[in-house]
Amino acid sequence: MSVPEGVPGPVAVIGAGLTGASWAGLFAAHGREVRMHDTDGVRARAAVERAVGFGRFLVAHGLADSATAEVGLAALRAVDDPVEVYSDVVLVQECVVEQLAVKRAVFAEADRLAPQGALLATSSSGLSISDIQDGLAGAGRCVAAHPYNPPHLVPLVELAPGRDTDPENMELAREFYLSVGKDPVVLTRDIPGYLSNRMSAALWREAVELVRSGVASVEDVDRAISSGPGLRWAVMGPHLLYHLGGAEGGIRGHLEHLGHVKEGMLRDIATWVSFPPDTADVLEAGLRVQLEGREPGSLERERDEALAGFLKARAATAGGSRGPAGPNPAAAAEVPPNEEPIAHPVIVDSATGQLVDVVPGVTRTTLAAGRTTTLVRFTLEPGVEIPLHRHPQEQTGYLVEGDLTLVADTGEWTVGSGDSWSLPGGAAHGARTRTGAVAVEVFAPSREDYLPGGPPRTADR
Ligand SMILES: NC(=O)c1ccc[n+]([C@@H]2O[C@H](COP(=O)([O-])OP(=O)(O)OC[C@H]3O[C@@H](n4cnc5c(N)ncnc54)[C@H](O)[C@@H]3O)[C@@H](O)[C@H]2O)c1
Repeated sequence: MSVPEGVPGPVAVIGAGLTGASWAGLFAAHGREVRMHDTDGVRARAAVERAVGFGRFLVAHGLADSATAEVGLAALRAVDDPVEVYSDVVLVQECVVEQLAVKRAVFAEADRLAPQGALLATSSSGLSISDIQDGLAGAGRCVAAHPYNPPHLVPLVELAPGRDTDPENMELAREFYLSVGKDPVVLTRDIPGYLSNRMSAALWREAVELVRSGVASVEDVDRAISSGPGLRWAVMGPHLLYHLGGAEGGIRGHLEHLGHVKEGMLRDIATWVSFPPDTADVLEAGLRVQLEGREPGSLERERDEALAGFLKARAATAGGSRGPAGPNPAAAAEVPPNEEPIAHPVIVDSATGQLVDVVPGVTRTTLAAGRTTTLVRFTLEPGVEIPLHRHPQEQTGYLVEGDLTLVADTGEWTVGSGDSWSLPGGAAHGARTRTGAVAVEVFAPSREDYLPGGPPRTADR
């Protein structure tokens, strides 16, 4: 299969429930022609309306290009006839009920009717792609593509091969999902729960136990994630954060200093493998308190608005530690000139996840953004001071005009118009200007982040 660049091929979404409608909205917002199919035609038509709403939401929040989305959303439609559903598609996204027999029947039909080159992807959370593809003539083109709810907003998609999947189709699947703004992670094999749900299950067990044992309320346990580690995890994963937490010693230093503390917790946390019978009662009682006075539907709206705002803010900052830096990574790899300037940008110390400051008198404009590297222009008004902060990327700067005193934990130095500087990833640094300044800075992955066997450093820089 190949997904020709710039010529989005049609996509079939099979199963018009929660997941199917959200996938359809995302695909259409990225300009794909989507055919929505369900055994229940009324559900398929209702899902098209919901999908159009999701697509418009993405456009309204700057997460999809409006002209591209208009093309996709105009072509989005419910299709009852299976021959028409599968004709010319480049990918089938199966989203039917979580039953092996039903999924196998859908894959068998798709394998018969979809063009030979099309990929067949399951959204299944818990079934094995090896079982779904078993015995199909086109088993090699079947992949698991597990979204995180809601797929039109949460960038993650987990790709896993089945026993008989052709390895080259994994790469084609990755390319396809990148083309619709997803952040694909690729597993080497199909395991229950993929990556994200296994980690979520381990965390949730302890969250349930903390409530059951009376340590804290449902609300406080939730906030201990959403106002704490959850915020950091949305920027960097646990390995990178602990590596940063180890300062100069990195992850090894962190383990040496705090490994035994974590081991003490591991000995103390819940280990049960069946939910205790009182789980639903205890959680419902806590949630009743937490949700008192809230309108039905308001939670979902709050989640989606906050996610959209966060994704936009995340796209405006550089980072090699996470996936696509915007609505569409293919578009982000091209240069988006004249990006809207951000007045008074927020500085977050990425070593601690703490807000350092909102910096009045500074304007930040992203001149170009690739997947890992960002070119930014900063305009500083006279007298501005940027507090000490750290980020994992290396920074190379060039002073276009004015004066700038760079402050690092190792000392201070003043640069003039035409001077350049560079700072290693993770270094604490700040700046101040007397007369005002215009600087252009490149944020790129730190040298240690380069993969072994990657291009030589000199070629990278
Ligand atoms: N809900 C989630 O949060 C979530 C997240 C990730 C993955 N998933 C996965 O997505 C899939 C769908 O889950 P959902 O929550 O959207 O389910 P859902 O019940 O909301 O929707 C399923 C749809 O499939 C349709 N259907 C059933 N048999 C069909 C057939 N043979 N052909 C066409 N359509 C058929 C049903 O009419 C229904 O509209 C599951 O495999 C689930 O594991 C769900």
